[in-house]
Amino acid sequence: MSGTSLDGIDAALVDLSQASPRLVSSHYQLYAESLKEAILALHTAASDELHQSQVIAIQLANEYADAIHALLKKSGFAPEQIQAIGCHGQTIRHRPELGYTIQLNNAALLAELTGINVVSDFRSRDIAAGGQGAPLVPAFHDHVLRHASIHRAILNIGGIANLTDLPPRENTTGFDSGPGNLLMDAWITKHQAELFDKNGAWSASGKIIPLLLQRLLAEPFFVATPPKSTGRDLFNMAWLEKHLNGNEIPEDVQATLLALTGDSIADAVQHFCTGVEELYLCGGGAHNNALVSHLRHALPQCRILKTDVLGIAADWMEAIAFAWLAQQTLHLRPSNLPAVTGAKHPCVLGAIYPA
Ligand SMILES: Nc1ncnc2c1ncn2[C@@H]1O[C@H](COP(=O)(O)OP(=O)(O)O)[C@@H](O)[C@H]1O
Ligand SMILES: [Mg+2]
Repeated sequence: MSGTSLDGIDAALVDLSQASPRLVSSHYQLYAESLKEAILALHTAASDELHQSQVIAIQLANEYADAIHALLKKSGFAPEQIQAIGCHGQTIRHRPELGYTIQLNNAALLAELTGINVVSDFRSRDIAAGGQGAPLVPAFHDHVLRHASIHRAILNIGGIANLTDLPPRENTTGFDSGPGNLLMDAWITKHQAELFDKNGAWSASGKIIPLLLQRLLAEPFFVATPPKSTGRDLFNMAWLEKHLNGNEIPEDVQATLLALTGDSIADAVQHFCTGVEELYLCGGGAHNNALVSHLRHALPQCRILKTDVLGIAADWMEAIAFAWLAQQTLHLRPSNLPAVTGAKHPCVLGAIYPA
């Protein structure tokens, strides 16, 4: 998995032979700063972007292959023992309203470099069927994290945050709530030359700017009824800067961005996951203590815990989900949830590149 945060690659070796998935081994590979910048640049129109996108896709396939090789070495498995790599690719445009989404990858090269079947391009088919193509992880949450009598919700805080609602005896729903870490990451990189705000410490040193928070929360996406998904296409530095007057103290903006993530999530839980008793966190943002405190304060009625207590490590949830999605594809089983994405029907997702 390589998500919107553009932090790097989560490689998970997963045993899916039993009812519950088992994380056998894992490897995290950070992106070089130059690669992150090159991917970021591809989010906006530029001359020669077609050529550049293919150059970066090749570089990504090499990075993914390195991550796979490191994972195999760590775990002592051979390529022949692995059924498939589920590789999400790196989103550079997400425009379901126009009928497309682009996850950069060179899956053919990845199959060639690893000698392992590759499943990729998970989102396009759902969009072709009229869906958002996102979020896709709710189907996995539905499969493994439901409770028969307790109303649970799963919150994945990546670059973008997404929620899965698991009400007992009712359909699973899910949607993107808005920014997770991506604006906080961008702001601290600009002002402190850090990749992210560790434990939310910098934001905790600032004060929320109420008027700015109000302006940011007025973005129509937040009140739109699901199905909905978003990305850097909407939530980016240009979007943030449009709302700034330029005189703000940087750490106050950071505190406000943390509140934006926290409040937009809490509002979404209240409006679209009514009656939730337990909220389980995963994704890198689950490490942001200041953000978790903000959520606890905003949602006093919920027990807030990490997914680790349910047997799935918060840091590896999404990578494990894409292993499961790849398995669904190999078995030609549909794995989108039309109630989540808005697709007209269940679809077999992804494209298979045989080893
Ligand atoms: N200790 C921490 N404190 C605050 N934020 C963290 C911490 N560890 C990770 N993060 C955040 O998590 C992000 C990575 O989360 P991840 O789940 O990989 O997102 P994505 O799926 O978008 O790549 C980092 O960019 C950072 O913002
Ligand atoms: Mg990541």
